[in-house]
Amino acid sequence: MIDIHNHILPGVDDGAKEMEQSVAMARIAEKDGITDIIATPHITDPHLTVEEINSRVALLNRELAANNIGVRIHAGAEIPFSMLDNRSCRIGLAGSKNLLVELPVHCIPSQAARLFRLIKSEGYTVIIAHPERNMSVNRNVERLVTLLGPGVMAQITADSLIGRMGEPARACARYLVKKGAATFIATDAHNDSTRPPLLSPALSAIRTVKNIRAKKLVLDNPLQYIGLTDTV
Ligand SMILES: [Fe+2]
Repeated sequence: MIDIHNHILPGVDDGAKEMEQSVAMARIAEKDGITDIIATPHITDPHLTVEEINSRVALLNRELAANNIGVRIHAGAEIPFSMLDNRSCRIGLAGSKNLLVELPVHCIPSQAARLFRLIKSEGYTVIIAHPERNMSVNRNVERLVTLLGPGVMAQITADSLIGRMGEPARACARYLVKKGAATFIATDAHNDSTRPPLLSPALSAIRTVKNIRAKKLVLDNPLQYIGLTDTV
């Protein structure tokens, strides 16, 4: 499986605190059947450039190899919606032009559709991170659905599907999966304890959803839309 949203890079955001914790997270992921993780630190800090992320990813890959952990880390970023205008913040997943974008918690900004159109015209694709946790989407999921289409996809967080993010997020995530509106499931892991990198509990939770081949959301779609052609 491929995890496209994970805060495994140590010491850069509210994810892994130090290398030891990153290694512990990778061990959990490997045991769960995850082979590849895209490290997606929040890029609210302007010093966190693509070069800086790449070099930290290389360091982490060396550490995992030294510990005989069979998980490859790829570079990426989680981009706040408010920073999409800034071209230097458009850091894609695993060297691709797919941008993982985080909406504000409370609303869908009125300029979202226009900005996504602009981004697409510049050759990028938008992946909306965990829309099921957005309060406006919770109240009216169709507001999200109208934004989705070619070039704009949704990533559901695994913990939402098992109810760890509250009932509104669980119901919304399940609805999006059932409707076929979710393209990816990812862990959005932050540590090795309260928010660990696990996908399989969520896959078990959606086994009862008709016509869904759960593995598509954690393997086929990441390969199809993102690919993992960056050198790691
Ligand atoms: Fe995240």
